[in-house]
Amino acid sequence: VELHLDLDPRLPLANQLYRQLREAILTGRLAGGDRLPPSRYLAQRLQVSRKTVSDAYEQLAAEGFLQGRAGSGTFVSPGAQRATARAPMSPTSLLAPSPRWQRLHAEHRPLRQQQCRYNFHGGTTDKRLFPFAEWRGCLQQALRELGRSPGFYDEDAGHPPLRQAIARYLAINRAVSCAWEDLLITQGAQQGLDLLARVILEPGMRVAVEEPGYPPARQAFLAAGAEVVGVPVDEQGLRVDLLPDDVRLVYVTPSHQFPLGMPLSLARRLALLEWAGRRGALIIEDDYDGEYRFEGRPLESLQNLDRHGLVAYLGTFSKTLFPELRLGYLLMPAGLRAALLHAKHLSDRHSCSLQQRALTHFLGSGEFARHTRRMQRLYARRRERLLERLRGDLSPWLEPIVPLAGIHLAVRLRAPLDEGALARELRQREVGLLGLGPFHHAPPARGGLLFGFGCIDDTLLDEGLDQVRASFIHLAPI
Ligand SMILES: Cc1ncc(COP(=O)(O)O)c(C=O)c1O
Repeated sequence: VELHLDLDPRLPLANQLYRQLREAILTGRLAGGDRLPPSRYLAQRLQVSRKTVSDAYEQLAAEGFLQGRAGSGTFVSPGAQRATARAPMSPTSLLAPSPRWQRLHAEHRPLRQQQCRYNFHGGTTDKRLFPFAEWRGCLQQALRELGRSPGFYDEDAGHPPLRQAIARYLAINRAVSCAWEDLLITQGAQQGLDLLARVILEPGMRVAVEEPGYPPARQAFLAAGAEVVGVPVDEQGLRVDLLPDDVRLVYVTPSHQFPLGMPLSLARRLALLEWAGRRGALIIEDDYDGEYRFEGRPLESLQNLDRHGLVAYLGTFSKTLFPELRLGYLLMPAGLRAALLHAKHLSDRHSCSLQQRALTHFLGSGEFARHTRRMQRLYARRRERLLERLRGDLSPWLEPIVPLAGIHLAVRLRAPLDEGALARELRQREVGLLGLGPFHHAPPARGGLLFGFGCIDDTLLDEGLDQVRASFIHLAPI
């Protein structure tokens, strides 16, 4: 038997050895009949005297845990285990989540994105082109800094130099002007949603989301006990005129409506702010992938147009770097600042210091700007080719909704077609492509698809679209 034993040289050795062997027998790691290593061998391995091992063996034998057999060694006595040695966990349990979480879970439909040869999954970035060598350099620099800093928690709101760098980036690139002190570093945009929901909602309050919309946002509000109302979108974005009177919070994606892609028009932006101003409602502006702009000038952010401190602006590095980093930020409205900092403290104190520092260097060295410029050119090429095909040989079946920004593009089906059958057909042809169905809360009048062009290999883009075309020819010949 190879035994893992770990002795602390500062404590009595024979006693430690005795206890560890006894524990191993009681918990079944050593079974009745197992042969123990000879005392000379074990003493050598543990670098203790042979007498230490013999003393431990003798005591265990005296208590009936071990038996010596003349000429053949020392064995664990049969039946020495504790009768109740670890039973597997019972599949049924007396515990159950609260009714709210049971209801929430019943409506949870995690989007399954399988790895496919032709990957058009929505919103995923191309990690193959991420400058990992430079990121590693930033991480090493961050590690050295952390090693020199006093061993205590960082600021709840996040590493100040990172917040300063993000504030500069927002002012230059997104026309969002803010004081860096108002920025909170989060674990992706999702934590921003969760914290906002926690500090502003009471069970039963109403929240408005776009329909179709982003399911994880809807779920975060439901988890806080809110009643969530879907408000339709049209070619100008959210139908502000259809907002119910009594909602406490409105969640919108103004730069690139998720999932359909149209921007919220300026008239609607002003109407939404006016509407919220009359009620003192919070607006969450989720600017998740507006970095990639392909046409036209960006419209002014809601945050910049807001005069009453009603907008919480959310950003993320999931689309510019990659989502596993879990780095995002929240520009806190003044009235919620203290509560949000407290909620962040209670949730996880602060985001990972190592990543925050590494990102600070990545932004400061110009590497982030270089990377996003490179990706912008690449995504622009893919988007153009995708649109060419959608307007060309795929046009009998598909009608694109052309977005100005972002790394996915929604299309409507021209004729009714079962999304499930289409998904199966596409999967068989190794095409990873989501239907629009899961983003609708109520069944949509027309089906559609969501083409992500963030991670499809350039050399496979056309081949993948040929497979999409073949699926349509098979299911809906013209
Ligand atoms: C609408 C929307 N918001 C936010 C995000 C990003 O979330 P996170 O920063 O938590 O990765 C996504 C990602 O797909 C998204 O589609």
